[in-house]
Amino acid sequence: MNRLTSAFAAAVTLGLIIQPMAESQAQDIRTGQAIARQNCARCHAIGRSGRSARPEATPFRLIPRRYPVEALEEAFGEGISGNHLGMPDFQFSPREVDDLLGYIRSLGRR
Ligand code: HEC
Repeated sequence: MNRLTSAFAAAVTLGLIIQPMAESQAQDIRTGQAIARQNCARCHAIGRSGRSARPEATPFRLIPRRYPVEALEEAFGEGISGNHLGMPDFQFSPREVDDLLGYIRSLGRR
């Protein structure tokens, strides 16, 4: 096994351990989905398919493919604003940010 293969094997193993842990947080993901539906769905497509009501607003299922979802954590915690054209300011509690990002992250899994 070369180094690349073993690194890959390690990553797969880690995934097998982490995946069930993530699954056990299904409740949080559901809360996150509810937050998304209430606050984001009027512009963004928040599901696994469909178009955004506002064409410029990225469908949520594409976000995990663009950058690590963690990168959004700070933005949401501090109140996302300003740099998003037409996007309202939001201020979420750390718990709500966790749930919301958990939901967005879940869209990146198949
Ligand atoms: C009133 C419409 C509107 C609402 C409501 C809205 N957004 Fe947006 N959002 C936009 C638009 C338009 C853009 C794209 C323009 C831009 O990036 O400047 C955007 C961009 C984003 C991006 C960046 C995507 C990328 O491709 O980089 C994220 C992340 C995001 N929104 C998350 C959210 C979340 C989470 C919510 C709900 C809490 C939300 N938005 C609610 C209009 C909205």
